[in-house]
Amino acid sequence: MANPAQRSAYRQGSRKNARAIAARLLAKVSGGSSLTALFQDQLAGVNDSDQSLVKEICFGVARYWPRLNALAEVLLERPLKAKDSDIHCLMLVGFYQLLYMRTAQHAAVAETVEAARSLKKPWAAGLLNGVLRRLLREQADLLARLDVDPAVQLACPEWLLKRLRTAWPEQWMQIAQALNERPPMTIRVNLSKVTRQTYIQELSKLSILCRPVPAVPSALVLEESLDVARLPCFAEGWVSVQDGGAQLAATLLDVAPGQRVLDACAAPGGKTGHLLELTRDIELTAIDVDPLRLQRVSENLRRLGVAEGVSVVQGDAAKPAGAWGGAEYDRILLDVPCSATGVIRRHPDIKVLRRESDIAPLVARQREILCAIWPRLKPGGMLLYVTCSLLPEENHRQIEEFLAQQPDARERPIQASWGEALPIGRQTLPGEGSMDGFYYACLEKLG
Ligand SMILES: C[S@@+](CC[C@H](N)C(=O)[O-])C[C@H]1O[C@@H](n2cnc3c(N)ncnc32)[C@H](O)[C@@H]1O
Repeated sequence: MANPAQRSAYRQGSRKNARAIAARLLAKVSGGSSLTALFQDQLAGVNDSDQSLVKEICFGVARYWPRLNALAEVLLERPLKAKDSDIHCLMLVGFYQLLYMRTAQHAAVAETVEAARSLKKPWAAGLLNGVLRRLLREQADLLARLDVDPAVQLACPEWLLKRLRTAWPEQWMQIAQALNERPPMTIRVNLSKVTRQTYIQELSKLSILCRPVPAVPSALVLEESLDVARLPCFAEGWVSVQDGGAQLAATLLDVAPGQRVLDACAAPGGKTGHLLELTRDIELTAIDVDPLRLQRVSENLRRLGVAEGVSVVQGDAAKPAGAWGGAEYDRILLDVPCSATGVIRRHPDIKVLRRESDIAPLVARQREILCAIWPRLKPGGMLLYVTCSLLPEENHRQIEEFLAQQPDARERPIQASWGEALPIGRQTLPGEGSMDGFYYACLEKLG
């Protein structure tokens, strides 16, 4: 068994290693990989406590990336070469610890410098040491100078802040601040198995504190995030992890028994499962273009005990084909791929991954899917268009343009206590009612 000195040495080595791992992963994020995928693929063999530290650092650095990068720009005499993006990211890891974590200053500097050796780039130790110490000495002055720019102060990519200012002239600052918050863990109670009140009692027996989301009858926000295995009857499908804003979809779709329903962009199946919890007696087809993500739909439906009779099919909603593509539906849920700007607090790496140039192709893709799927809706039927975007071009402008060109489509206005009414549809803003930012529009097909 290791003695205390060895254990301490291990902890030091391990924590230094966690910083090096985080820097490596962040370099991959700057190269276009998502943290979700990297955490899944690259943390095998890393112990639980180091995994938590790696995740905390990666999420934090991504969240404050624009501000940390602005600091790097002024503190470095010249930018590092592309092949040393791991060292650049390690520097941001150091900045993050000094500005936002409770790590003791000397430890943050020493361990970040040491991590350069783990990355097999000992030449960077002196550089990191110098830059981090200068930040310590000049922090107040440097930040006062840089924070004059709201994009730096709010740690929001400049292009996104510009678009938020235009779209939300009164709320843009509050939105950008909310996007920097750590998201709460929100669960959806399966009301076909248990009431929300009974589940609150089950949680309280385990001293797990929570509060209901008033606008969403199935949603509970937990005071602290925890492993789903600790949630009573999780394996039995009593609850799922899902943001409150996302839980609005199934109710808005207003499904009745006997109807034929298409979930056209279904994976990983959060909204599909919720639909079936509300009404089991429907003929549901769930499709997604991504076969790997589609597997998660089936897994989720099995855990909820609602998989039987549901048709889960790989398909491209922009090219309806086969049996699902020939059928007509009473209800279509269209949760299109989007910029995900409304869920940045859950996926802060979007600040690094998303480029302004992504928006126009996404808008075109959404339009293509919407136009291709519309003929699959029965006359008198309803399509619910959903995004987790905050940008009007993906939301009400997209739908405005569609309605202008589709004489058999009209809006069914959403009457609700939550969110902001837009010229067409409704929007939740991040943080409002503990929810993420979602856009919803209900479209009816004239009979
Ligand atoms: C916002 S996510 C859907 C989330 C899902 N509705 C839920 O609640 O769990 C968008 C999904 O659209 C899928 N997708 C993208 N393009 C598609 C297409 N052309 N046809 C079908 N699915 C598509 C993506 O693979 C992704 O799983």
